[in-house]
Amino acid sequence: MIAREIIDDIVARNDIESVISSYVTLKRAGSNMNGLCPFHSERTPSFTVFPNTQSFYCFGCNAGGSVITFIEKAENLDYVGAVEFLAARAGVSIPQDGRRAQPGEIPRRRIFDMNLAAAKFFRECLFDPALGGEGMRYLMENRRLSPATIKHFGLGFAPNSFSALHDHMRRLGYTDEELIKGFLCGKSQKTGRAYDYFRNRVMFPIIDTSGNIVAFGGRVMDDSKPKYLNSSDTPGFKKSRHLFALNFARNHATESMILCEGYMDVIALHAAGFENAVATLGTAITSEQARIFAKYTKKVIISYDSDEAGQRAANKAMQLLGEVGLEVRVLRVPDAKDPDEYIRKYGADKFRRVVEGSRSGFQYKLDNILAKYDLTQPEDKIRASNECCALISGYHSGVEREVYISQVAKQLSLPVDVLKNQVDMSLRRRIREKKAQEQRGAQASIRNVGDRINPDAIKDVQAAAAEETILGLMLIYPEYRSAAADGSEGLTSQDFFTAFGRRAFEAIVAAHESPEGFSAPALEQSFTPDEVGRLQRMEQGRRALSENGPSVFREAIATLKRAMSQRADRENEDVVSGIASILARKGKK
Ligand code: GTP
Ligand code: MN
Repeated sequence: MIAREIIDDIVARNDIESVISSYVTLKRAGSNMNGLCPFHSERTPSFTVFPNTQSFYCFGCNAGGSVITFIEKAENLDYVGAVEFLAARAGVSIPQDGRRAQPGEIPRRRIFDMNLAAAKFFRECLFDPALGGEGMRYLMENRRLSPATIKHFGLGFAPNSFSALHDHMRRLGYTDEELIKGFLCGKSQKTGRAYDYFRNRVMFPIIDTSGNIVAFGGRVMDDSKPKYLNSSDTPGFKKSRHLFALNFARNHATESMILCEGYMDVIALHAAGFENAVATLGTAITSEQARIFAKYTKKVIISYDSDEAGQRAANKAMQLLGEVGLEVRVLRVPDAKDPDEYIRKYGADKFRRVVEGSRSGFQYKLDNILAKYDLTQPEDKIRASNECCALISGYHSGVEREVYISQVAKQLSLPVDVLKNQVDMSLRRRIREKKAQEQRGAQASIRNVGDRINPDAIKDVQAAAAEETILGLMLIYPEYRSAAADGSEGLTSQDFFTAFGRRAFEAIVAAHESPEGFSAPALEQSFTPDEVGRLQRMEQGRRALSENGPSVFREAIATLKRAMSQRADRENEDVVSGIASILARKGKK
């Protein structure tokens, strides 16, 4: 937790309009500012900055909150990281005692120091023939890595022992609790003692762009399972917000970046001179990671494994990277299972040629379609042309569609006009389907179907709307916070029937009653960015209510209480009818 004075100070030093201006081109619209949302792809601006309340909200994707939440999302940081980022931006430092560690929470700095000490230990083991000879042989002989590459990536070796790292770290003053929370040690179920988590594995440190070691991956040296062990997510480290080797690749990323599946692919590529290569940390690429790419480069070359799983993953990656506006290309590495193996077999020069011959996303998909059919057969040719036209109709720009139509016309030797007609038909069908889908979506959102943030809402839509009205007003106006806190409206957290509503109510009241008083940016510390976006949505549309606000507030409380008593009645009925049916059954006997 960060002390309240510090949050207030940092927020005051970072005017939301000037912070967001360096990410989004904003245009004035009345007292607010508009722009294209950086968090989803759109053509008409629905992203709004409210200078008066120092907040933002996107009417398209419901992202919203204070400048802190904005930085969390834009820079892929957690709350504490975002505050530190903004402090640095304003040229102030956060005093160490201003960071009240929550009970049981270990400061990020401490975890990073601990990881650095562990990485040094792993490296010493690797370079010690008695301890790490096997690891060194594996890296140099099996994987053909040079000592320079091994040092460059800070690779190491975890000895085959349950206590080597543990004992070393204890001598340096780290506690069992710290080692377990930092995923360097596991906790024995039987004795409760800490034991080394990584054993007999070559170690890959994962380094963020500030040079902190945030996690480790460890690989076995044979075919045993699991092949890799990775540190799990902690409050200071989320896999979905990092890319392996981004600390190096960011300096070589102006033209393009290469996205691979594995650590070993990245290391082989860097060693061969492709220092713009990165990999996700053993998971499919996320939209957060797609935004990281967009921050550093224009073009991403996807270089996944050639097996079916790799190709399926490439399709997903293509979509996510395309959505953030990146040019996407896809590599095919012939006669090798992955880029690492390809370079080992054929060398860097050949790989460079493969990169130069990489296909556009369209060409890649087109080839996949054409490969399925025997184009000398008329039926196959018809099916292929149908699929190609459906594919082309998915492109928004008319120019792109024209270009692709003439390309397909050539490859299938069909007249351009015929294909054009078919694409138009497919386009109209797409538009119809999209409209229908939007309507369904709108109906679903009215009924709160599939609400991830507030899953209880669907059980009683009216009551959920009443909760939102109450919370929205409390978030905007102090008088409603007072009324809720002093009980003058008879409202308590028990009146809220959704778990999210109850939690939000309790957090707002607690903030209101705290010595420092309520502050929206500080409140955000207790919620995820998605939840903060939902709280922002509750505020929207309730700002214009200042006149008849009090009656709306009372009305909503009444609705909530009515819903509650109706629910209680229904439950009683259920019990009564349950008893009746039992009695009836007994009577029959
Ligand atoms: P090599 O087989 O040594 O060439 O490794 P690689 O880096 O090429 O790995 P691979 O393509 O098999 O897998 C891609 C990535 O998925 C790896 O770099 C790991 O991050 C992750 N991964 C692979 N196997 C496992 C596993 O067993 N457990 C976990 N948690 N992650 C794995
Ligand atoms: Mn591999």
